[in-house]
This record gives sequence, C-alpha cells and structure tokens, in this order.
Amino acid sequence: MPSLHDATRGRILFGGDYNPEQWPEEVWADDVRLMKDAGVNSVTVGVFSWATIEPRPGAREFDWLDRLLDLVHAHGVGVVLATPTSSPPPWMGALHPETLPRTEDGSVVSYGSRQHFCPSSPVYRRYAAALTEDLAARYGDHPALTVWHINNEYCTHCWCDETAAHFRRWLSSRYTTLDRLNDAWGTAFWSQRYDTWAEILPPRRAQYIRNPAQELDFKRFTSDALMECYTAERDIVTRHTPHIPVTTNFMPLWPGQDAWAWAEQEDVVSVDVYPDPKDPGAGQYNAMLADMTRSQAGGPWMVMEQATGTVNWRTVNHPKPTGLNRLWSLQSVARGADALCYFQWRQSRQGAEKFHSAMVSHAGEHGRTFREVKRIGAELALIGAEVSDTVVPAEVAVLHGWDAWWSSTQEGRPSSLVSYPELLQAWHRGLWESGITTDFARPGADLSAYRMVLVPHLQLLDDAATETLVAYVRGGGTLVCGFFTGVADVDDRIRPGGMDSRLRGLFGIRTVHEWWPLDADVTVECDGFRGTLWSEELEPDGSAETVAAYRGGELDGLPAVLRKGTAWYVSTLPEPEALRALLGRAAADAGVRPVLEGLPAGVEAVRRGGLLFLLNHGRSPVEVKLPGRRFDLLTGTEADGGVELGRYGVAVLGEVSP
Ligand code: GLA
Repeated sequence: MPSLHDATRGRILFGGDYNPEQWPEEVWADDVRLMKDAGVNSVTVGVFSWATIEPRPGAREFDWLDRLLDLVHAHGVGVVLATPTSSPPPWMGALHPETLPRTEDGSVVSYGSRQHFCPSSPVYRRYAAALTEDLAARYGDHPALTVWHINNEYCTHCWCDETAAHFRRWLSSRYTTLDRLNDAWGTAFWSQRYDTWAEILPPRRAQYIRNPAQELDFKRFTSDALMECYTAERDIVTRHTPHIPVTTNFMPLWPGQDAWAWAEQEDVVSVDVYPDPKDPGAGQYNAMLADMTRSQAGGPWMVMEQATGTVNWRTVNHPKPTGLNRLWSLQSVARGADALCYFQWRQSRQGAEKFHSAMVSHAGEHGRTFREVKRIGAELALIGAEVSDTVVPAEVAVLHGWDAWWSSTQEGRPSSLVSYPELLQAWHRGLWESGITTDFARPGADLSAYRMVLVPHLQLLDDAATETLVAYVRGGGTLVCGFFTGVADVDDRIRPGGMDSRLRGLFGIRTVHEWWPLDADVTVECDGFRGTLWSEELEPDGSAETVAAYRGGELDGLPAVLRKGTAWYVSTLPEPEALRALLGRAAADAGVRPVLEGLPAGVEAVRRGGLLFLLNHGRSPVEVKLPGRRFDLLTGTEADGGVELGRYGVAVLGEVSP
C-alpha cells in the first residue's frame, strides 16, 4: 500500500489549495514564481473544478488542467489532485433535482453554494464516478501527481426518499430482521413498533423527542453512506494508479464522520485545522487535533488545510498576529505532520471566501503574510530531512469514539450543557499543560502499549470495548475514567445499575443512584477542589479508596473521585487546575514522565524522532532550561544548558554531534 512517504520522499510537503480556474492564465506564471520563492513543493488542485472541467453533462475540458499541471511540474511543484466531486455544477441540480439534499423537514437544499448532493443519489454517484474515471485516466501517469485527494470535507446530510431507501438497506444488513431492529430501537416505547421495512424513515422532523436509537443509527448510516461515495472514487483512482496514495480531508473533531473507520480506508490521513487565533486555548486545541489525526493515521499525517491568518466563517474573524502561523505550523510538524498545506494559495477576489486569508493575500508578495510563509517554507526545508517520517512517542492514550459522541448528543438527556468535544479538550488540556504527550485511541483498541489510558466521557461503550478496559487494568495499566461512562450499551440501552457492572467492579462502585448534573456557573465542593458540570450519587462497594469526597449539599460525604488499584473514577469535571493535578498524580503513579521537567507556563515540549521541539505559546520571551547541549536546527546555533524563546518562538533541537 502506498503511504505518505511515497509523496514526501524525505521532505515536508508545503503548499496549499490552488484554484487557478479563478485566475487568468497570466497570473499562473506569477504563481509559480512565488511558489518557488516560498519553498512551495505541493499544490492541491481541482477541489472545486467540476463546472470548469464538465461545463455541461458529459463534456470534458481538460486542456487548461494539462497546461497547469505541466507548468507546476516544470517548476518542481508536485500536485495533490482532487476529484472535484464536492460541488456539482448547477446543471446537475437543474437537470436532476433528485441529487439535491433534503433537510429533516423536507426542504430542498439548493445549488449556489457547495456540498449540495445527496450521498445516496445514484445519479450523483454515476456522474462523480465517470468524472473520476476520466481524471484518473488522464493524469494517472502525470509526473506531478503525488497524492489523490477525494472530494472535500465530506459533510453533506440528507433525509430524502432515496436516503430513506438506502437507510433501510443499511438497517436490514445490520439487523437482518425487523424484530431485531424493533428490539435495538426500543420501539415498544411510545408505540413506535415497525411492522414492515417500508415504514422506516430517516429521523425526520417530528412533534417531540425522536427515537434516540434511530437517530444513532442514522448517524452511523450517514457516515457509512458518505464513505461509500469516498471508497467508490478511491477504488477508481487506485485501479489506475495503485502506487499513488489516496486521502480525503477530514474536518477536525467533526461529528459527521467516524474518522477511525474512515482512516482505515485511506493511505494517508489528512485534516483541515482552523483554531481561533482569539481563543487563549487554541494552542492546546491545535495540539489535540494533531494528536488525534496522528493516532488515526498511525504515523505521519497531512495538514491539508490551515489558514495563514483569518477565516471568514466565525462571528468575528480575527487574523493571526505575527508569528502565530509559524508557531502552529511547527507545532503540527512536532506532533507528526509531514505536510503543511493551506487553504488557499492565492486569496480569491470574488466568491464566498474573498475575506478568507491565503498564502498570497490581497496584500501580495510584499505583504506580511507572504513574508511569513516564505520563512516557514525555508525552515521546513531546513528540518524536513531530519523530521519527515519519524515517530512521536506517547505513553498515554485518550479514548475517543464516535458512537459515544453520537449517543451523548441525543435529545432528552440529563444535561444539554455536557459537550463531548469540550470534555475531550478539557482532559487533553490537563495532560498538555503537564507536558505529557498523548495519543488518542478508539474504544476497543489494544491498549497494552500505554502506561495510562484516559476516558474523558464514553457514555456508550459496547461489550468488547468494556472488556478491553477491564483487561487493561488487570494487566496493570492505569485507567482514569470520567463521569457518565459505560452507561449505555451498543444500542444506547441503559445498563442496569447506572453503569456497566464490569466497570463498577473495576472502580469499586456498587450502584449509581442518581446523576446530578450542575447548572452553568454552579460548582460543587469536593475535597481539595471544585467540581463543575456534573456530579453523581455513588454508592461505593467498600473496595476502593475515596480520593476526594463531595462536601456540602445533597452528596455530602459521598465519593467524588474513587480509586481502586490503578483504576480511577472521576464523577465530576474538576476545574482545570484540579483536573491537571489529578491527571498529573495518576500519571506519576503510572510512571509517565513529562517530555521536559520544569517548563515555564505556556511552553510546549514535544519529541519527534531524535528532535526536541520547544514552542512558546506566550507573547513574552521565556528562558527554557535544557539538560545538556543541543543544536538548534532553525538558527544553526548551539544551545548549552538553556534556550531563549521569543514571542511565539520555536526551537527545534537535535543532539550535538560529537
Ligand atoms: C474548508 C474547506 C475549504 C475552505 C476552508 C475555509 O476547510 O475545505 O474549501 O472553505 O474551509 O476555512
């Protein structure tokens, strides 16, 4: 199977989405000149080119793309070639309105933007396959081609009749019989029993709370239906070019695609990362997305898109101050990225994204943005050979799975304030602030390589995943588990006792009597810290130590944090500093060490291969003490005993050769 290494060949890929069809051809010459200037070695072409290539049904306009690929190749720039199937041309919607998605209440989603296709539509799929076939046949042998990029951020949803029929087929292969489906969905409740398959619909707009198991299955189905679109195109390009790796770019922490399952279908895992420059927690968020994507890839991965500066889809869109683009870019490399690409190369003058930043901004080649891009390109060239294809070691894994996420978003739950991604981020932050590198792992995965495993919030845990946790602790692993975990089985059916009995045995809990979610801004006193968001009325079975008890209120004296051997249960969300301390304590007991001791606040240290990356997320300079002498690859100087990092400063340190 081809891998990212086949495309990078010992370099870091650097470049971005290139949309030359938006520009007169004389601009292309300027583009390649500037690409060379900036050290760009990769462009992603074709993402939104469907209407340019196929202006009317069945037409093929490839000449411009021939010229473009030849031009960039002549300038030493490789091409990540996209199948342009995420934005069908207007003729498709006009000619085949059944290809357009319908919302939950039956309204048609029109063309005029992008992503306006129903993933179950055979007509859409037929046109997409035909175009992919012709694209692969024409460019499979082109020397510029390095990676296939299928579609773009698969995220459309549809509730139409075609989708309903497809959903029924998916359900019948999952459950085989209607009795099994009725049982899994609990349709005895509210008179929802299905008597024929034809009665089953996607969860459309309804009077009141919809069946949560039906909603869960529809989310599973939608992820799978989109994946069928992906694999159909992937199989076509792979037939033409078995040696060229294939990817599709994920949206990060996106509920619509089970990224673990999708990653198994990719040669290269890529993601689009857009942390908010205004968010003080954005550095950690970027680290988390990197850790997640690296784990899904099982090695090096691609930043397929990021922004040099501002995006245009937040309420207020803030640019990146000088240095932040470089900091977050090198942070992604530190955490395993072997490709750093942007949306997009040249800032569009028209269309929906004319206020979105780009590598060549409206300010042009003399603008601050392009100067920074050039600096990043030059630095990647300096470190590429040493860093590319190397490993980021981690002794901790955070469990994260889509079934649990989907189950946590259902209507009619104990607290709508509980946000699965926010909990993941809170727990990851606890490790990040302690300088501990972590992987993510899929529930049910083999955990034996890790000294410590965190489960921030897996409300749904199937039997197999539950067994892996039990086996992990039996094998001596340290497990720290957050509230409301193991509450539901694979069908989202509540486990008797308020938590899976095997997990209760692990943590020394006899019964979960009640869940006591907390209002916003309300905290609950615990020994040594305050809990937020949630609390639980637990009856311990006497086999566990109470690490901290609730103090005051209804739960006074009951355990908030339990520990039985190497298994910890945390029944609230401790405030950030307390969560950091708790995870730090469990990590120390498990023998997990930070990458570097005594780091100043806001400084991140990550090891990748033989290199140590130091990243200052603060705006003031800091001095970082180092054990011994190191060589800074970026400055070409030796650092003996310490290194100074300026505002958003980065050092990439290697051993000093004897
Ligand atoms: C996504 C898309 C791009 C662009 C950017 C803007 O990542 O894939 O085409 O719209 O968002 O941030």
